[in-house]
Amino acid sequence: MELLKADNLVKHFDEVTAVDRVSFSVHRGEIFGFLGPNGAGKTTTINLLTGLARLTSGSVFIEGKEYSTKPKGAQAMMGVVPDESNLYDELDGIENLKFCAALYGIERRKREQRAKELLDQFGLAEAGRRLFRTYSKGMKRKLTIAAGIIHKPKILFLDEPTTGIDVASARQIRALIRELNQGGATVFLTTHYIEEAERLCHRIAFIVGGRLVRIGSLEELMKEHQQETVIELVVEAMGSETAEFLKRRFPPYVIHLSDERKLRVVSDGSIAIRPLLEALAEVSVTVTEAKLIRPTLEEVFVRVTGIESGLMRQEREGKKK
Ligand SMILES: Nc1ncnc2c1ncn2[C@@H]1O[C@H](COP(=O)(O)OP(=O)(O)OP(=O)(O)O)[C@@H](O)[C@H]1O
Ligand SMILES: [Mg+2]
Repeated sequence: MELLKADNLVKHFDEVTAVDRVSFSVHRGEIFGFLGPNGAGKTTTINLLTGLARLTSGSVFIEGKEYSTKPKGAQAMMGVVPDESNLYDELDGIENLKFCAALYGIERRKREQRAKELLDQFGLAEAGRRLFRTYSKGMKRKLTIAAGIIHKPKILFLDEPTTGIDVASARQIRALIRELNQGGATVFLTTHYIEEAERLCHRIAFIVGGRLVRIGSLEELMKEHQQETVIELVVEAMGSETAEFLKRRFPPYVIHLSDERKLRVVSDGSIAIRPLLEALAEVSVTVTEAKLIRPTLEEVFVRVTGIESGLMRQEREGKKK
């Protein structure tokens, strides 16, 4: 079940502790998300996991074998897609992929076929003979991901795969990541888009200031912090006296009118809707809609890290291209 294990990773750069006693496991077949703001230590962690940076202390295990001892084949099991492309501007798409294929020791006669297969899969078939430097940002990102999976790695590391590209390309890239995962690849990705982690990842770790502050599946993260149930009732119109009447009738619930058409009912446990509807019918208030308000990962993130989600957004927008 466990494909990769990080045990007490530490990385110092002079006086800066970029990664501070971080431990977690990545399960086989999952998309694991590392979510945190700028400077949290996401890229450094990827570099430690993939052997691009040396650990100050701690260990990485892949399939139970310690990675620092360079077990045979560990490198071949990994694909790495850095936040800034490592491909060559002066080579075209096919040449770039063939070059990567050669680096991974793929037989010469198979390289071109594999390159073309990937260009097709990534919707870049038309661009195969164009120089990499003429690609748009989204195309560059896609080709860089294609290069990272040329050797069919068991685990793929993606550093902010959708940062700095437009919404439509980001959506395509998320679809590709899901596809790769469904094809059997385990994925470790970093992001500072809370919604991206929420939509894409099976399990999520929050990292702030080099420390891993929370880890779990979306469900677990939500449950831990939001036991309460919130129901919103949309009514045709009602006044505060009706809200007061409901409060008296249902003392365990916290009830408030957010405007004259929306009533919010909050409970520590579950909420029985029928008695609420019946009570409103008694005072001739018509309910047009009732919905369960789901807690968002954003709220949980803000509560756990103390970082305002607006700040994450600013950082995202202010980030280098
Ligand atoms: N080579 C380096 N030398 C010195 N300090 C470094 C180096 N690389 C990273 N750091 C520091 O380590 C901390 C973590 O940086 P890292 O790049 O891992 O963050 P990140 O989460 O990837 O941020 P971003 O979202 O901006 O990519 C930062 O304080 C950074 O300044
Ligand atoms: Mg980074």
